[in-house]
Amino acid sequence: MRLGFLLPCITVLLVTGSVCKLAHNSSALPLSSSSRWIVDESGLRVKLACVNWVSHLEPVVVEGMGKQPLDTISKKIAAMGFNCVRLTWPLFLVTNDSLAGLTVRQSFQALGLMESIAAIQVNNPDLLNLTLIQAFKAVVSNLADNNVMVILDNHISKPGWCCSNFDGNGFFGDKYFDAEEWIKGLTKMATMFNGSPNVVGMSLRNELRGPKQGVTEWYRYMQRGAEAVHSANPNVLVILSGLSFDNDLGYLSKKPVELTFQGKLVFELHWYAFSDGQAWANGNPNQVCGRVAGNVMRRAGFLLDQGWPLFLSEFGLDQRGTNVNDNRYLGCMMGVAAELDLDWALWTLQGSYYIRQGSKWEFISDSKMHLSTKMSSDGCSLCLDVDPDGISIITNPCRCLTNDQTCNPESQWFKMISSTRKTASKNSILRLPSRPEIWRFVRNRALESSV
Ligand SMILES: *[C@@H]1O[C@H](CO)[C@@H](O)[C@H](O)[C@H]1NC(C)=O
Ligand SMILES: *[C@@H]1O[C@H](CO)[C@@H](O)[C@H](O)[C@H]1NC(C)=O
Ligand SMILES: *[C@@H]1O[C@H](CO)[C@@H](O)[C@H](O)[C@H]1NC(C)=O
Repeated sequence: MRLGFLLPCITVLLVTGSVCKLAHNSSALPLSSSSRWIVDESGLRVKLACVNWVSHLEPVVVEGMGKQPLDTISKKIAAMGFNCVRLTWPLFLVTNDSLAGLTVRQSFQALGLMESIAAIQVNNPDLLNLTLIQAFKAVVSNLADNNVMVILDNHISKPGWCCSNFDGNGFFGDKYFDAEEWIKGLTKMATMFNGSPNVVGMSLRNELRGPKQGVTEWYRYMQRGAEAVHSANPNVLVILSGLSFDNDLGYLSKKPVELTFQGKLVFELHWYAFSDGQAWANGNPNQVCGRVAGNVMRRAGFLLDQGWPLFLSEFGLDQRGTNVNDNRYLGCMMGVAAELDLDWALWTLQGSYYIRQGSKWEFISDSKMHLSTKMSSDGCSLCLDVDPDGISIITNPCRCLTNDQTCNPESQWFKMISSTRKTASKNSILRLPSRPEIWRFVRNRALESSV
């Protein structure tokens, strides 16, 4: 319900405005910066209204290829009012030739994701025999065909879910994050897309973080990365993420970045409800908004006054509307983003993943029929449930686990069974009808098999 409301609402609030020009004609590219604004070739402001699209997880293929044809998704992105995609990629895609050379089919096969292969066969058969790097290029090029700009975001080194302090991908010197390899990879990517005008920017590295992070190293390596990207591809905006999961660029108030080029530098900021823990749920929303917005200004917002564009490259919330912390943050964050007229990118486009680290399902309760998973954001448990429409399978807070004698858990009861018989139907979820019909069904099947 919130979903239908949320996207148009954000789009209307943040995209419209007299100074806002959506770049629908790629002849105005490349983009550059002019004081705090991002502008096109003729100096007109271009407001980035992007959506993140994930391509950095284990399969290294953009999400959703088993759901809809690529071109349908690109058209939908444009139709929803986004003018750009922040497209994530793992460093190893360009620094590990045997990874880049895998075909899409082989990548899914190696992960045992046979159902994804079957689904991609239906929706995007042309992708299956492409190598991962070819498939990535096909996505960029299809977005170009639909007048959607692209920001290439180096999200992580080793393909997988991002980000934690200890995942080995957080800062220079971490297990999977070698500075020289990173510079090489950025150079390769920048070169590869030099000549693709819709690639308007590169986010050099997502959410720097972890025990090794440091301001001195930040300047040393980010400046080197920026120079490397710019010399390989002088067209793209060079976008720099801050420390502490891209919540903090405060050190720039004292010491600016030193680069040999001008007119291409942009900073990016991430701002979620959980950036401030449970502050929104636990405090008075006015006071929390005042305090958090003040911190955002001190850590990043001041850059606008210094004459740099600031790209809110990740924000988002649980769109089911059940998370109080998220709901309270949304209004405050949108107020600030609209007031500052920020360029932005919503997290995220895909509603599901081929594979998602961390989401583990297990049977709980004494009946062992509640199929439950823990939310990583707030640690609460959700259970599979049958929607009141009687058809869809959804998630809800787990119900009636213990004690309550009046409560009926049945819509949350599931059994996983290995079928011993081939069925004609391709639908793998068998819906159990309401009780009287079940018995009829069971009786009929019993009769059937005794015949
Ligand atoms: C973009 O603008 C240029 C020059 O104004 C024009 O020649 C070209 O046809 C336009 N392209 C599209 C796709 O509208
Ligand atoms: C390169 O990629 C291949 C294929 O995914 C993988 O087996 C290998 O371990 C990777 N090598 C490195 C050094 O990460
Ligand atoms: C794709 O590769 C498979 C083998 O992996 C082959 O059977 C099939 O014919 C190929 N399809 C195309 C369109 O080349």
